[in-house]
Amino acid sequence: MSDSDRDIVVCRCEEITLGEIREWIDRGYDTVNELKRMLRAGMGPCQGRGCQDIIMREISGRRGVPLDQTEPGTVRPPVKPIKTSLLASGGE
Ligand code: FES
Repeated sequence: MSDSDRDIVVCRCEEITLGEIREWIDRGYDTVNELKRMLRAGMGPCQGRGCQDIIMREISGRRGVPLDQTEPGTVRPPVKPIKTSLLASGGE
């Protein structure tokens, strides 16, 4: 990996670089959920929509596992602020 590759930002929301992702995969954290817990990669406002595919490809490549056998991370509903009046009206 060249120095320029190390600094490529994979998760823009949490500012996680390709070098950090590769380092933690090499330490044995080779699932999307483990990398989320260790680095917060995929826990930003986009909830991994911008980075999860890249992280899965990195896991696949470094572990020699086919991409279709690399599990995506746990999906949580996006949290968006809503007005209290919307709740009070029963969502109408
Ligand atoms: S780019 Fe990774 S959580 Fe948004």
